Amino acid sequence: MLQDKVIVVTGAGRGMGRGIAQACAETGAAVVVGDVDFGGVQETAALISQTGQRALPVLLNVVQQESVENTIERALETFGRLDGWVNNAGIVKMDSALDTTMPTWDWHFQVNVSGLFLCCQLAAKQMIAARTGGAIVNIASNAGKVGYNNMAAYNASKAAVINLTRALSAEWAQHNINVNAVCPGGVNTPMLLGVAEFYSARFGGDPHEMVKDIKPKQMDRHIEPIEVGRVVAFLLSDDAHIIRGQSINVDGGDTPY
Ligand SMILES: NC(=O)c1ccc[n+]([C@@H]2O[C@H](COP(=O)([O-])OP(=O)(O)OC[C@H]3O[C@@H](n4cnc5c(N)ncnc54)[C@H](O)[C@@H]3O)[C@@H](O)[C@H]2O)c1
Repeated sequence: MLQDKVIVVTGAGRGMGRGIAQACAETGAAVVVGDVDFGGVQETAALISQTGQRALPVLLNVVQQESVENTIERALETFGRLDGWVNNAGIVKMDSALDTTMPTWDWHFQVNVSGLFLCCQLAAKQMIAARTGGAIVNIASNAGKVGYNNMAAYNASKAAVINLTRALSAEWAQHNINVNAVCPGGVNTPMLLGVAEFYSARFGGDPHEMVKDIKPKQMDRHIEPIEVGRVVAFLLSDDAHIIRGQSINVDGGDTPY
């Protein structure tokens, strides 16, 4: 499905980004795995290399232009082309809307929206210059549709990603760049445990037990990162040409719109 394609995955040092990178490699892509946590992406790359696929770990901060440019250069130097980009890096800091400080608000928008936009823009410029076209997948969240309690800044930042995905899809179709998003929920990652830790700090209880309840209602378990990754890998492939500007829920049926 992604044979001979070169895909960059941001925030691939753990959690969903790691699963997405593994899923892309599974179908034949060479993957560039970037994260502010370099040890994490070295581990991700090692896991992929053990399966006989190609992976390059890169120190990447999505809010720094030079760092994003360096990632693109490393991808081209090492693998010779750039076909796809997955904007997975993201943060959440739980707080009630009344307690959310402006620095917390700004941090969400800086990483989840501005950093994501910067990556989209620089990746698209490279795809346009190379006249290859390509595909971009943004990791939004069902929070961007639902609007959960105690994460107002996160909800709003993810809603922005959904809208930005539509806008970029329309604007870059002429360059043969396909832009879609996925909206996960209840995925087994350190971020989800962080949500349980917020509630356990307030109401007591073991976060490792509480996190078990933050699962899709129609399922008897969490979603694993590689399962989201396989949907992302499909959206990066040529077979997804007819799916454009969409934000597809990958949350086990929790969000019916
Ligand atoms: N886990 C879920 O249930 C869930 C649900 C919906 C959406 N998401 C989204 O999926 C994405 C991945 O989430 P996760 O659960 O794996 O989170 P996570 O916190 O476990 O992992 C996030 C990764 O992003 C990296 N990162 C953070 N800021 C960065 C930056 N500025 N530059 C580069 N890397 C950076 C972190 O170092 C980390 O490795 C996020 O965008 C998140 O909002 C997660």
